[in-house]
Amino acid sequence: MVHARRPPLAPLLTLLLATTAKAVDVPAQAQVIDQKSFNVLGDVPPPTVANSTTLFIPPGTTKESLFEKPFHIYDEEFLDIIGTNPTLTLLNSSGTNPRFHEAAVWVPSTDDFFFVQNAGDPAAGTGLNKSAVIQKISLSKVTAEVSAQRNATGKVDVHLVAATPAIINPNGGTNYKNRILFAGEGQGSRVAPALYVMSHNAPYNATVILDNYFGRQFNSINDVAINPRTGDIYFTDTTYGYVQDFRPETVIQKQVWMFNESSGAVAVVADGFNMPNGITFSPDGHHAYVTDTGVIQGFFGRNSSFPSSIYRYDVEEDGTFSNRKTFAFIATGVPDGVHVDTKGNLYAGCGDGVHVFNPSGKLLGKIWIGSTVANFQFAGKGRMVILAETQLFFATLKAEGAFPGQLY
Ligand SMILES: *[C@@H]1O[C@H](CO)[C@@H](O)[C@H](O)[C@H]1NC(C)=O
Ligand SMILES: *[C@@H]1O[C@H](CO)[C@@H](O)[C@H](O)[C@H]1NC(C)=O
Ligand SMILES: *[C@@H]1O[C@H](CO)[C@@H](O)[C@H](O)[C@H]1NC(C)=O
Ligand SMILES: *[C@@H]1O[C@H](CO)[C@@H](O)[C@H](O)[C@H]1NC(C)=O
Ligand SMILES: *[C@@H]1O[C@H](CO)[C@@H](O)[C@H](O)[C@H]1NC(C)=O
Ligand SMILES: *[C@@H]1O[C@H](CO)[C@@H](O)[C@H](O)[C@H]1NC(C)=O
Ligand SMILES: *[C@@H]1O[C@H](CO)[C@@H](O)[C@H](O)[C@H]1NC(C)=O
Repeated sequence: MVHARRPPLAPLLTLLLATTAKAVDVPAQAQVIDQKSFNVLGDVPPPTVANSTTLFIPPGTTKESLFEKPFHIYDEEFLDIIGTNPTLTLLNSSGTNPRFHEAAVWVPSTDDFFFVQNAGDPAAGTGLNKSAVIQKISLSKVTAEVSAQRNATGKVDVHLVAATPAIINPNGGTNYKNRILFAGEGQGSRVAPALYVMSHNAPYNATVILDNYFGRQFNSINDVAINPRTGDIYFTDTTYGYVQDFRPETVIQKQVWMFNESSGAVAVVADGFNMPNGITFSPDGHHAYVTDTGVIQGFFGRNSSFPSSIYRYDVEEDGTFSNRKTFAFIATGVPDGVHVDTKGNLYAGCGDGVHVFNPSGKLLGKIWIGSTVANFQFAGKGRMVILAETQLFFATLKAEGAFPGQLY
């Protein structure tokens, strides 16, 4: 077959962005979604048909056309995030086994990217014997040739990481003092949820740094983040371990905690959630974002009237939270993992892909996967790994993740 020579630059399509009526160059893998096109649908489906479990397919698009150009521009500001040639590449798919779930951590020194399997999804065939599975890929193997393809399955190996001792039901993860900090959800009533640190390199030895509050177990620690101003550890504790059938019923208030490792002090910073889940900080540390995934209730099913929300707090000098603001509400699925770029834009893994908001909560765009993204993470400047349960994606874009390496 003879291929036409590629033009020196990716072909740019010029479209009119409805919100500004201004001509913008739309990159090859992007499309403009005009929100005015669906303000009035006429025939709005009932909640038995359209609810938190359903994908919204805007008029004039299809599921296929949305995936064909997966960078969806809702606001012109998104162009500065995706740049002129964003790409999305499928790296691996794992059938029904949810291997690509959470605890997404990029280690700059080795260019390894770590993540974990879904701990509590028996319906997907995970089972507790697979629940301590940490994996990694080497991003140095993800070449320009790989990212030029939409489907590059088989080109990058997924390696198992056997931590010693095992990290039980890891779910959240972040870089911390040159090691990886994992939030473990615990198992049964005798293995308490815990925070673990694990070395970056083989033999991946691990140490528990917190497993109780004055002798009481946490419910199932879900996610962790580091306050960039103090270096303290913050974590969400929720009851997914219970509603996914591997932990006792609620044992302590579901809330957000702060842990000062050097003094040993543990303190609550926020409560009032249904299911506190993802957590991150703004690049300057003045704000914290916490998601509430109350819509998903495990064996109790879904309740679309519960929170599917991102909250923003002010973070005081002493590390405490104040002024809770409702930052965003997600229509499809829930906002699970959240991360920021160096400019303070907030990215959330949701039921149809990664949603991107500016710091005031305006939706700028989506990286559309068409299924649940529990978590994802930047790998420095211009690269992102997206965990879509049974699919592993690699994206290139212009934005840069905040906190690379995090060496507090
Ligand atoms: C939500 O929508 C889905 C898909 O249309 C439907 O199967 C489900 O029954 C709905 N849930 C409720 C509680 O109505
Ligand atoms: C889990 O592993 C244990 C120990 O290897 C084994 O006895 C048990 O049957 C396994 N359970 C399942 C559900 O595979
Ligand atoms: C990706 O490519 C592989 C190998 O050619 C193929 O088996 C698989 O079906 C493709 N996946 C998708 C989602 O297109
Ligand atoms: C996924 O990764 C595993 C481990 O490297 C490999 O055996 C498998 O072939 C890969 N599958 C796809 C579809 O890329
Ligand atoms: C791993 O083991 C080394 C050597 O004993 C030790 O210095 C390091 O602190 C350990 N790391 C963790 C995270 O346990
Ligand atoms: C954490 O503890 C250390 C050691 O006691 C102390 O110096 C520091 O101020 C504490 N951090 C905060 C935010 O309270
Ligand atoms: C959702 O929760 C509300 C408030 O608790 C309750 O009234 C309603 O019956 C629940 N719906 C479902 C489908 O469980």
